[in-house]
Amino acid sequence: MDMEASCTPTHWQALTHHRQQWQKQLRQLFHDDSERAGRYSLQAGPLFLDYSKSHLDDTTLQLLLNLCEHQQLDSAITRLLHGAEVNNTEQRPAWHTALRYRANSVIPEPSVHAEVKATQAKMRAFVEQLHNQQWNGFDGDTITDVVNIGIGGSDLGPRMVCRALSDYHRPGLKVHFVANIDGAEIHQVLQGLNPATTLFIVASKSFTTLETLENSTTARNWILTAGCPENQLRQHFVAISTNIAKATSFGIDPDNIFPMWDWVGGRYSLWSAIGLPIALAIGWQGFEELLNGAATMDEHFASAPAADNMPVILALITFWYSQFWQARSQAVLPYCHQLQRFPDFLQQLDMESLGKGVDRHGQPLAYHTGVTIWGTEESNGQHSFHQLLHQGTQMVPVDFIASLMPNHPHTHQHRELLACCLSQSQALLDGKSLQVATQELLDGGKTADEAASLAPHKVIPGNRPSNTLLMERLTPEALGALIALYEHKVYVLSVLLDINAFDQWGVELGKQLGTRIDQALQCGTLPEEWDGSTRQLAEKILSARD
Ligand code: F6P
Repeated sequence: MDMEASCTPTHWQALTHHRQQWQKQLRQLFHDDSERAGRYSLQAGPLFLDYSKSHLDDTTLQLLLNLCEHQQLDSAITRLLHGAEVNNTEQRPAWHTALRYRANSVIPEPSVHAEVKATQAKMRAFVEQLHNQQWNGFDGDTITDVVNIGIGGSDLGPRMVCRALSDYHRPGLKVHFVANIDGAEIHQVLQGLNPATTLFIVASKSFTTLETLENSTTARNWILTAGCPENQLRQHFVAISTNIAKATSFGIDPDNIFPMWDWVGGRYSLWSAIGLPIALAIGWQGFEELLNGAATMDEHFASAPAADNMPVILALITFWYSQFWQARSQAVLPYCHQLQRFPDFLQQLDMESLGKGVDRHGQPLAYHTGVTIWGTEESNGQHSFHQLLHQGTQMVPVDFIASLMPNHPHTHQHRELLACCLSQSQALLDGKSLQVATQELLDGGKTADEAASLAPHKVIPGNRPSNTLLMERLTPEALGALIALYEHKVYVLSVLLDINAFDQWGVELGKQLGTRIDQALQCGTLPEEWDGSTRQLAEKILSARD
């Protein structure tokens, strides 16, 4: 059910009415207003957003901005940036912006600043020790490989950033990632490594996550089996956690623990010590540049009026389509091989934050909240799922992302990549009419009858919306700004939807049941109260094991 069906305050009614009246074709909007592209574009730090290929005009924006006012978005932004308890079900702030706070920021110096700085100093010292080959493994050789063991927010952010910034990696130290409970992943990663020169980062905010603890135990056994004495394990394990006691009792030397705080949400944590693998991969200065880029977006978010505020505009567009155009998914398509993991990262950021069924006060919602986020590196998707974008029956809004300059020497391929990107947003907008399709067939030598029967298959409706985000070049700074842009977009959506973006209770049930099922599989007795399907599947697992 859409929001307007159950909530009918004036703002909703006005938007519903506006949507019902909306007849305008995108092509016509450009035809009627030669300034449209410029009027519906924004620059924020290193990012340029063209949202002119959207189904909106000034009236649409005004109606959506009225809603922002009604939801007191301004004060919600201030509350977020000033460390108020925006995560009301866990009574804590979501203060990731404090981790990238800069002296020239519009945000007042947070009281936590000293703690953040102390942790960053510890991270920096560690990074420099490894880069200067001053950290030796158990047989005296310097560390050449670092394996980050973590999952969810303790994996997706650092993994995505390390992949995105591979052109900036320092030589001599390789960073690897292990997340999955499936032993195949750690098995594969360890196969290529030398235990004597490998260091593990156990990244877990809670230090209770099954996957991370199991993989860390496997890693520890691997090092011990290779001949590392127990008292040298400290040369091979560091941890990042809020749970110092658990990390210590797992066997991590307290000096090797990098703290984080409960006010950093898992999916917002790459700016904290969870970003250690990033700093190891690209160096401390690169990590600072990443933080700077995010801080630039924070300042923009804090100070730009809503109508010129990039995260707000992106959120309003998604809100408009999801509530009033029945859009149930959003494609994010980076025309950039290096950003291949960006959609995966965004899935957690957006779907774990906005996949909620009750409002901030626990009342069931009668409207849709989060949409499905999906995508892949381009131009690969053009030869796969773009067919559905162009001719499928549902409208899927798209965010295209591209950099103007490549980080490689094959400039003609980069030009072709950008041409592919523009071709897709243009094809979505223009489509192909029956008349053009018919004429093309006739020109190609088909008879009138043949053309008439084939042409409907070749019609592309067009009038499908997209945003395009451009950056000069994929640098740590531009990437920092891009990530912060989507973080803030998600927050704005949560304010409009009146939900808590910072908890994830739905994930907990699977964790609880997983532990119980594993216990039953271990002892071989399946509880009577289980449903028939789960029992049947568990019996198959048990008999395969036997
Ligand atoms: O599985 C959900 C989740 O709670 C995420 O929100 C979090 O990022 C991830 O697990 C990992 O948690 P931790 O860092 O505590 O191991």
